[in-house]
Amino acid sequence: MNVSAYSIVALCAGALFYFGATSHWVEASSAEPQSAEQLAQGQRVYDDNCQVCHGRSRISDGSTPDLRQFSRGEEAFRTMLAEGFYPMPSFEGEFSEDEIVALWSYVSSAGE
Ligand code: HEC
Repeated sequence: MNVSAYSIVALCAGALFYFGATSHWVEASSAEPQSAEQLAQGQRVYDDNCQVCHGRSRISDGSTPDLRQFSRGEEAFRTMLAEGFYPMPSFEGEFSEDEIVALWSYVSSAGE
């Protein structure tokens, strides 16, 4: 790397640091409302991984908890996914952060 390229990198890093330290509003705006796209992604993850036991559209046949009733919040949901809940397997490392967020928005949504 030559000197001028190096100084450009340094400049960018400086700018990033500057904006990172000053833009508090970026954090405040990161909690986006559920989008249709996110729900659709969540449903895909659900259909591929959870439907087999928890039923089509989250409607349980009675042999597993009905996920439309799950009311303990996102933290408990994430713990459930990571640790499993015998006989439910652990899904630790199976999903990206985006997929987990989408899955939660689907599971916690009111719609069918
Ligand atoms: C092999 C079948 C199976 C699969 C696959 C499965 N689950 Fe489960 N799940 C269960 C069973 C059975 C329970 C109840 C365990 C118990 O009560 O001991 C459960 C419990 C849960 C609970 C707790 C419900 C409550 O009200 O306590 C959540 C949340 C949950 N599952 C979410 C999911 C999600 C999300 C997926 C897909 C990523 C999934 N499960 C995949 C069988 C499964």
